[in-house]
Amino acid sequence: MTDNQQQQKQAAAQAALAYIETGMILGVGTGSTVNCLIDLLPQVQLKGAVASSNVTAEKLTALGIEVMDLNLTGTLDLYIDGADEVDSQHNLIKGGGGALTREKIVAAASRQFICLVDASKTVNQLGVDFPVPIEVLPQARSYVARQLVELGGEPVYREGFVTDYGNVILDVYGLDVRDPLAMEQRLNNIVGVVCNGIFAVNRADIVLKATADGVQTLRT
Ligand code: 5RP
Repeated sequence: MTDNQQQQKQAAAQAALAYIETGMILGVGTGSTVNCLIDLLPQVQLKGAVASSNVTAEKLTALGIEVMDLNLTGTLDLYIDGADEVDSQHNLIKGGGGALTREKIVAAASRQFICLVDASKTVNQLGVDFPVPIEVLPQARSYVARQLVELGGEPVYREGFVTDYGNVILDVYGLDVRDPLAMEQRLNNIVGVVCNGIFAVNRADIVLKATADGVQTLRT
């Protein structure tokens, strides 16, 4: 990561603070961009936070922020997370860090999803440069991989990686994601798939895109 990219991540995180209200229970994503936001959260008087991964939960706890159970919070007002790719309609690819399933759950359970990206993350079409991560039940790995090949993809097993839920990840290159919603639903229909990294149903409401010239607020 370049210094410039790190500065952009920090700028996007700083811009996100304006959307966080005192007393809120905030949904908090996972990754290096969101880590910049987590570092700023002590400035805000949160009621608590719902974490999208064990790593994020540990970081929040270390800062004295109460990590709450999504089953007890009800619908959240706001979820903030990064992404690996974002298109012009705010469909996303997520899961580079392997936390896609809980990220999608918290995004789905939130009224608003704000996505923080640096300029390198915006693309014309999802899945051309970055593979689609898919969380798979370990026993179904080979079966799911064969189904993905039939769909035109090239699945690569993320060796040595186990998700927070004890599952494995297949990173799928070459999938045709021209219609993100259709591909998200098609992947969900493969038995053994826990979750896929296309966020079209739960795309971002607002993208805060940091560039060399400042942070742009993009709304669909
Ligand atoms: C983790 C994710 C992250 O949001 C995504 O990988 C972006 O990470 P970073 O902010 O480090 O570039 O989906 O599962």
